[in-house]
Amino acid sequence: MKKFSMLALSTFGILAFGADMDTQKQKAAAGELKKTLVGELKAKMNDGSAAAVEFCSKNAMNITDGIAKKHSLNIKRVSEKNRNSKNTPDDSDKKALAQFADAIAKNKKPQEFLVVDGRYYEPLMTNEMCAVCHGKNSDIPKELKDKINQLYPGDRAIGYGIGELRGAIVVW
Ligand code: HEC
Repeated sequence: MKKFSMLALSTFGILAFGADMDTQKQKAAAGELKKTLVGELKAKMNDGSAAAVEFCSKNAMNITDGIAKKHSLNIKRVSEKNRNSKNTPDDSDKKALAQFADAIAKNKKPQEFLVVDGRYYEPLMTNEMCAVCHGKNSDIPKELKDKINQLYPGDRAIGYGIGELRGAIVVW
């Protein structure tokens, strides 16, 4: 009996430790993606927002895939109101996004991260810079709106204020 519980304990310990290690790795990959995308975006905004949109449309996916490869993990960005249809959330993603939205509705702040169906989720909130390309329709300059509509005819990623849930980074 004693032997059994020792075994059960150590197995549980390894499992719990294993899960934690996974989360740490996933968190590191998500952090690197966020830092890289925001950093590149900030730099490109100096060339004007239309140039930055063009940069995003050409490189956001490649940058995401590159960091995924580097960490030997899968990474995507999802949003209920996505600009690129490749970033459409699936059922697990929708569960995580709903939990973030719930927390924001109750506490004004989302969880730092969530693990749902074995995937790691980190919320992406809007700040002033995001509003330039994801803000209210009337706030987006015409030249920029034309560029966005030309690249993304089905764009749904506008209408956001500041401090809102824009989407999530998913790592698994
Ligand atoms: C220069 C314009 C620009 C700015 C500024 C910008 N974005 Fe985006 N965003 C885009 C474009 C273009 C895409 C589509 C990229 C692609 O094809 O994957 C996008 C896609 C996304 C996506 C993926 C889901 C989707 O809609 O397809 C998220 C999440 C996102 N942006 C969050 C943010 C956040 C958070 C900020 C601020 C920190 C921000 N964006 C700032 C242009 C911008």
